[in-house]
Amino acid sequence: MERLQKVLAHAGVASRRQAEKLITSGHVRVNATVVTELGTKVGVHDKITVDNVPVVGEAPVYVMLYKPRGVVSTANDDKGRKTVVDLIENVPQRIYPVGRLDYETTGLLLLTNDGELANRLTHPKYEVDKVYVARVTGVPTNDAMRQLRKGVTVDGETYAPAKLKLLSSDAKKHTAIVQVTIHEGKNHEVRKMLAAVGYPVEKLKREQYGFLTLKGLQNGDSRYLKPEEVKELKRLTGLAE
Ligand code: URA
Repeated sequence: MERLQKVLAHAGVASRRQAEKLITSGHVRVNATVVTELGTKVGVHDKITVDNVPVVGEAPVYVMLYKPRGVVSTANDDKGRKTVVDLIENVPQRIYPVGRLDYETTGLLLLTNDGELANRLTHPKYEVDKVYVARVTGVPTNDAMRQLRKGVTVDGETYAPAKLKLLSSDAKKHTAIVQVTIHEGKNHEVRKMLAAVGYPVEKLKREQYGFLTLKGLQNGDSRYLKPEEVKELKRLTGLAE
């Protein structure tokens, strides 16, 4: 027997947290009865529906997308904008993004229907290093870089120490390219950190997620992760098979 929210997440219906909301708000039935209790355990013979749609266990899939600018990192957008899921063709399973990249941010985004792995990858306890490259206005001083390496607090939100590397600068154009490595996944984290020390981000790309890189992918392309890559992500998050 498994907890209902876990079964929903594994089936690719939603992330664990979203599944909990679906349950408590009365969208989920088990054997035709609405269940709002989060601890409810279900087995393989129970008939589960979400808004009357049967939940069928699916094979887990893991996809890497080179996200372009101008798409939202959700499975459905209430404003009707193009989503990252719209860009992925030929994957029959319902998948959703692991964390987010901003609408204007490009780069490496994982999508899966494996709720357990997605939850672990976005959990502060397991969060893996993410490497971003930012073009900023201005050329960061050593002092600004030092502040970010120590961690900064913006509007009451504390961002953990980041690794910073000044890749290049153009004093005439008043811009610089900075590599930023963080392990948290807070909203707009890189933009907020850099703006806080006086260097607003003009352009942002995530180049690496843990050991995964965009090598071989063009902007907008996606590919399945290799079995050994999935295994390594599971190992990193304590889900070794
Ligand atoms: N930090 C940001 O500011 N934006 C992103 O999309 C990702 C990290």
